Amino acid sequence: MRSPIVAGNWKMNKTVEEAVDFVNQIKDHLPDPSVQETVLAAPTIALVPMVKAAQGSPLKIAAENCYYKDAGAYTGETSPTTLYSANIHHVILGHSERRRLFNENDQMINLKVHAALAAGLCPIVCCDDTMGRRVAGKKVHWVVSRILADLHDLKAADVEKVTIAYEPSWAIGTGESMDPAQAEEGCYLIRQTIADMYGDEIADNVRILYGGSVNTSNINRLMASEDIDGVLAGGASLDPDTFLNLVNH
Ligand code: 13P
Repeated sequence: MRSPIVAGNWKMNKTVEEAVDFVNQIKDHLPDPSVQETVLAAPTIALVPMVKAAQGSPLKIAAENCYYKDAGAYTGETSPTTLYSANIHHVILGHSERRRLFNENDQMINLKVHAALAAGLCPIVCCDDTMGRRVAGKKVHWVVSRILADLHDLKAADVEKVTIAYEPSWAIGTGESMDPAQAEEGCYLIRQTIADMYGDEIADNVRILYGGSVNTSNINRLMASEDIDGVLAGGASLDPDTFLNLVNH
């Protein structure tokens, strides 16, 4: 049985003080993590104080990115082992903004997934889906090839630690969420691809989230879908009351 996840991705928003205030406002109103996990991804500088504020609560704090090396001359990057040692156990990798604005490709994301797992982190690997490719009828190939490349050469035992976030880039930040039936189709396709790579049992255990203009009006229909195990919300995660409404939908 896959336990659902409601996750927020703040992107490059909030000061450290605002981040800690937010955690203090929500931490006593979250579901038991055995019923549903709550994850909040925040800018690197806010992570350690957020972890401290969240101590003793079910809230899990996630990084929005990390590098694929543990240490060395990589100015400006964050090491996965440093994250783990600071009790940050989740990391978003391959977000479509990282791919589009910072030129990250599938090969680099695959290296990051390997490094994150080796450090003990649980990666949330984002898989986008562009409108152009949907219209061109190439959606299937696009989504499948991305999953094949991002999860390349992982050990079967590690795949279950990975969460996938299916995020059509045209639905991100636009207020235009994907129709739940289409979102389910994308998530189903991802699960089938993982089943082809690692077998049905492992594919059945991998959590797959939908992201892209998730809000309090569409979360219930999205999460009712068989292959959608949760959501990754951007804009709707920035306000504590709205985020709590998503979490306790
Ligand atoms: P929005 O919810 O603002 O569309 O952002 C989605 C997203 O990119 C989450 O990672």
